[in-house]
Amino acid sequence: MATTAILSALEQEQQGLRAQLTGARQVQRAGREFWLGDLHGAPVVLALSRIGKVAAATTATTLIEAFGADRIVFTGVAGALGPDVRVGDVVVASHFVQHDMDASPLFPRFEVPLYRQAQFACDPGLTELLAQACRQTMAQWQQQHTNPPQVPPPAVHQGLIASGDRFIGTAQVSRDVQQGLRAHAMHALAVEMEGAAVAQVCHDYGTAFAAVRTISDRADDIAHVDFAQFVNDVAGVYAQRILVNFIARLVADPGGPSAPGRPGAG
Ligand code: ADE
Repeated sequence: MATTAILSALEQEQQGLRAQLTGARQVQRAGREFWLGDLHGAPVVLALSRIGKVAAATTATTLIEAFGADRIVFTGVAGALGPDVRVGDVVVASHFVQHDMDASPLFPRFEVPLYRQAQFACDPGLTELLAQACRQTMAQWQQQHTNPPQVPPPAVHQGLIASGDRFIGTAQVSRDVQQGLRAHAMHALAVEMEGAAVAQVCHDYGTAFAAVRTISDRADDIAHVDFAQFVNDVAGVYAQRILVNFIARLVADPGGPSAPGRPGAG
């Protein structure tokens, strides 16, 4: 079976997965720790992305070059940009854009020079599998946790995620990012600091890529407070449950739409 790389933005997201590995082996590369093993029947390699686009690109490249990852699945947290996106919801990425890419007037704003594109798409088959895993996990979560009636159940969104080397911690900067993207007909649901870099590396190598982010804050003036609390309380549990559900789907249908080499994969 093909090797699946599970990339986590946060240590809290990786801990629970590491505990479930069988035949776990740690390998050091590029100043990073990688964990190899079997996760419920699937060969996996676990890694922490680190923070920011360059660090995440190095981790993704190492996963592909040194560990032969055939597909990469990325989890983490993000700030909400979309009006209907709330703390506790999850956003499955369809595409990524770098909100801080600007080589104008040499290239159109947001376009990655020499690629002739601003957005990098995730693999449709792998993304559908991840979205299914998210929907089932959220439904189970809802059954186990009785929310107060005024709190809506966590929703699963799917769409564009914007990445940049900046924590968005004021409502003004959040509006600026949204308006800049909107002026180029892009409506991002969430903002974080790594996904677009990993999407670009996967594009370069033809490696299938899917990503999900749990919303930790509204990318506003209190984002840093919400972020810290959310990471400790919820993010790790969400990521672990979503990924175990996702791996079960992959193992049940290894030749499914996300199989390496199948049209649409990579
Ligand atoms: N990750 C989680 N929240 C974020 C924010 N507000 N800005 C950038 N990355 C984030």
